[in-house]
Amino acid sequence: AAAEKGGYATFMEKEIHDQPHAVADTLLGRTDAEGRLVLDEMSISEEQLNAVDRITIVACGTAAYAGMVAKYAIEHWTRIPVEVALAHEFRYCDPIVNERTLVVSISQSGETMDTLMAVKHARELGAITVSVCNTHGSTIPRESDAVLYTHAGPEIAVASTKAFLAQITACYVLGLYLAQLRGGSYADDAQSVMKELGGVPAKIETLLGQMGRVKEIAKFMADTRSVLFLGRHVGYPIAMEGALKLKELAYIHAEGFAAGELKHGPIALIEPGQPVFVVVPSPMSEHGLHGKVVSNIQEIRARGARTLVIAEEGDEAVVPFADEVIRVPATSPLLAPLLTVVPLQVFALWLSTAKGLDVDQPRNLAKSVTVE
Ligand code: G6P
Repeated sequence: AAAEKGGYATFMEKEIHDQPHAVADTLLGRTDAEGRLVLDEMSISEEQLNAVDRITIVACGTAAYAGMVAKYAIEHWTRIPVEVALAHEFRYCDPIVNERTLVVSISQSGETMDTLMAVKHARELGAITVSVCNTHGSTIPRESDAVLYTHAGPEIAVASTKAFLAQITACYVLGLYLAQLRGGSYADDAQSVMKELGGVPAKIETLLGQMGRVKEIAKFMADTRSVLFLGRHVGYPIAMEGALKLKELAYIHAEGFAAGELKHGPIALIEPGQPVFVVVPSPMSEHGLHGKVVSNIQEIRARGARTLVIAEEGDEAVVPFADEVIRVPATSPLLAPLLTVVPLQVFALWLSTAKGLDVDQPRNLAKSVTVE
């Protein structure tokens, strides 16, 4: 069993360390010699894809957060409106779907019943369906018009880690492919973004080598009862994923918020000693988002929060307001989730371990939920 875990104590730790490969393998074979995207597996005609005027992403759990990250990227690159629906809500909300709707399901297992039912419903309504899936031969890809496999390798730990990074990567590939196919202002950027994505696995590797302090912080926090997570833009779903990992693995009350929403309610939760992770947008982000989130850190710190700040290498603006600064390598803003989520996974892993819990098999959860 130790060999299966690659020398790590748990599958989750191993799978966190598999992440550079999960991203690299998901990119593999999806570009030609010139770096243009070629998706041979995309068995949907170019005519149909060109006619798409709306995308709906359906998924559950961690996969739904991958979908939320994907929304920002796909909308930016393609200018096609993207909606993200929890699969179990989609089917019952009288969804607006027709032949020009691309319904993208995201599922590690390919067997989640809620997601499968959403896909079937979308097909009945005439939608074009694409499955982003990690498991060959599973049900959801079989029930879809096309499949874009993530190549994360088998994921054993119940809480998803490497599949999440692979899902985000596959969705970027899909978005860039659509941008390239349909022309428009970002068509020419597809190659350069793919090139930058190609450099991300090495950055994840670097980041994984710097997680010692995060592990220490997690150990100190074994008795913590509540942790909040703030993020903005693509950092918002990452805040929610960080909270989900902590709920799943450490059974701690945890919640992720959009940082801009802080003043509309959640700031009332801040009291002295409250730990808050803040996923800071890249200083390169548009519309001054970085400065706005730095102000949020300042506001919660002034009210006694213990601020655990995830910020890009070289971002010095956060330092005066941070109790801890966790550094991630610089990337363009849309690709940052592939890095910023890693410390949050590592934090949940070690907090759970510090509490003596079973990291790979959290209570009450199943790896794949095959009932509605
Ligand atoms: C279960 C798992 C989660 C996972 C979700 C979706 O609830 O415990 O970790 O995110 O299902 O799974 P899927 O296989 O569809 O990605």
